[in-house]
Amino acid sequence: MNSCCNLSYDTEFDLKRARRELKQYNRSGAKKSSQPMITKLRSLDLQNKTLLDIGGGIGSIIFELLKEGLQKTTYVDISYGYTQTFREEVEQQKINNQIKIYQGDFLDLHNEVPPAHLVTLDKVICCYEDYQELVKYSLNKSQRWYAFIIPRDTWWVKAVHGLELLGRKLIRNSFRTWIHPEKEIRELIVNQGFKEIFKVHRREWLILIYERSEAI
Ligand SMILES: C[S@@+](CC[C@H](N)C(=O)[O-])C[C@H]1O[C@@H](n2cnc3c(N)ncnc32)[C@H](O)[C@@H]1O
Repeated sequence: MNSCCNLSYDTEFDLKRARRELKQYNRSGAKKSSQPMITKLRSLDLQNKTLLDIGGGIGSIIFELLKEGLQKTTYVDISYGYTQTFREEVEQQKINNQIKIYQGDFLDLHNEVPPAHLVTLDKVICCYEDYQELVKYSLNKSQRWYAFIIPRDTWWVKAVHGLELLGRKLIRNSFRTWIHPEKEIRELIVNQGFKEIFKVHRREWLILIYERSEAI
């Protein structure tokens, strides 16, 4: 596990925040930043396919894409608050048989986690310092598509991020986020035999979807 300890994820993404986000999702749907990715993924043929959502939060990607006929999905999240909230919602919706849930750092769990046709990381890579390992091991799980959202690697996003970091330091908040280099992330993906099929910006976010050149 990297330097960003479990404790800071549990403080940042606690039960209270998770339950508030779930309520909001049930009231008005997925976050605006996630919507372009969900819309594009819906246009792929997901019938009977499998999904692995890493850093799934309250599970909006899973809930949205299950409507597209996915066969099985796997959820992984390091935060107890998010995982517990997701687990309760899955039980409430009685869809337990379609979803496998893991709580913990994906890099500690990756040997146990099954591969999937589609792997998603929605605003997750930026919450993890060792992005190279996270991208490398999550790519290994993708049999066909790899979709993710990261902050744009541009000056104004970096300036806002710098201010946010300063604010956290001032209040002694140990949770950290990173703007990792877009070019290097893309190289890691392309070098593993994927090609870009979707790219869009939404405010500070970059949304990218890749497809394996040869499906496995
Ligand atoms: C900003 S939140 C995004 C949550 C959700 N994907 C969304 O868009 O609403 C980042 C999530 O990634 C999770 N996370 C970060 N690094 C992780 C890792 N290495 N393994 C599992 N989960 C991780 C955090 O616990 C958190 O739930």
